Parts: sequence; C-alpha cells; structure tokens
Amino acid sequence: MITGIIGAMEIEIAELKESMEDITQEEISSIIYYKGKIHGKDVVVAKSGVGKVHAAVCTQTMIIKYSPNLIINTGVAGSLNSKLDIADLVISDFVVEHDMDTSGLGDPLGLISGLDIIKIPVASHVIDKIKTAASFIKDTNTYIGTIATGDQFICSAEKKNHIVDNFDALCAEMEGAAIGHVCYLNHIDFCIVRAMSDKADGSAHMDFPSFVKVAAKKSTELIHNYLKSL
Ligand code: ADE
Repeated sequence: MITGIIGAMEIEIAELKESMEDITQEEISSIIYYKGKIHGKDVVVAKSGVGKVHAAVCTQTMIIKYSPNLIINTGVAGSLNSKLDIADLVISDFVVEHDMDTSGLGDPLGLISGLDIIKIPVASHVIDKIKTAASFIKDTNTYIGTIATGDQFICSAEKKNHIVDNFDALCAEMEGAAIGHVCYLNHIDFCIVRAMSDKADGSAHMDFPSFVKVAAKKSTELIHNYLKSL
C-alpha cells in the first residue's frame, strides 16, 4: 500500500518532505519524486508545478513509476462560497475542469470529450476516511463538495459566478481535476484536499500571499492525520 501525494507548489509539500524517513528521490521530466515513509506509511511525494499540464504529467508518471493505490492532492484554493472562510478545508466528492469548453460544438460546458462526463467522482470510501481524519483537526470547518480546476487564478466576481453558476463548486484551484482525470483513466483512487487561501474575488491577489502559508499548513495537517489513521 503506497499513497501518492501531490502538491503544486513547494509550500504545499515542504513540511511533508521534512517529515519523511528513508527518503530516496528520482527526477523524471523535471519533477522530483520523493519516496519514503511518513508515520511509518509508504508514500511518494511530488511537487507537480502549477496548472493542469504539470499536474497531469506528474500524476501519470507517479502511477507508472510508483503504482500508488491512492493519490491525494494537497494544497490551497480560492473559496467560491461565502460559507467558506480562510483556512477552511474542502474535500472533493467531484472534480470538474471549469475551462473545458466544447460548447461551440453543442456540448455542455465542462464536458470531457471522449469520456462524456462533466464531473469526475471520488470514491466514497476515500472521502469517508479523509473526512474522519479531518474531524480531528481543531477549530476547522470542513466541507465536502465539487472542486473546480482550470488554468486560471480566479480573482473576479464575474469568473467566480461563472464557475458557481455552471458547476456548483465550493472552491477553485489549478490542478485537482487534472489529477482526477488521469487517475480516472488509470482506475486509481484519488481525492483533492484544499484549504482556502483567498476568496477568488477582487482581493484574491492580496489575500493569496498573506494566507497561502496558513492554508497550506492546514491541508498538510489533514494529510498527516490521514496517514496516521492508516
Ligand atoms: N489557488 C488558490 N487560490 C486560487 C484562486 N483564486 N484561483 C485559482 N487557484 C487558486
């Protein structure tokens, strides 16, 4: 049993790397994969880089080289819902690529051509375990819902409303659905866990640098709790 953990940015995986024992590392396609143990559990941890292409390359390589049973994507996101505050957690039950658009051909927005689905589901047994791990984190609200992914930093009411109106998502980020998409193609379990660093609005460019650290730490805490529970 080996768990794959992917974060887009160094701040999202730095502490996990520091917690690892028996580390070996390997670089493939400019991404470094750290294999070792956290709380005695086998893990492979990687920083994918930002955006859907980086995330897809990282996920596919991780699957081929390390055969993880489950891939968890940890990191930060912009809140799309007023009930979600900075550092609150979202666990994905579905992921969607909000910038996938073949509507010019008559398709619904977000449809993944070829797969003929819009939202990719997360296995309920995975959600349940991660939800339980989250319940042990003090003073933190955790929500389960759709996470929307696109190659855009969302920082306007207009874009935010577009994603909410079309996909009913709780938060927006830039890698999760690409990771889910690759896992879906490979029949591998996955889940996205994100803590809110901003509200994806006109203040997001200022909030993100202020809160990215505290949010990344919260998501990392959930990964620790999950690994301890295995
Ligand atoms: N990651 C963190 N905040 C984000 C935002 N507002 N849009 C996209 N990705 C994000």
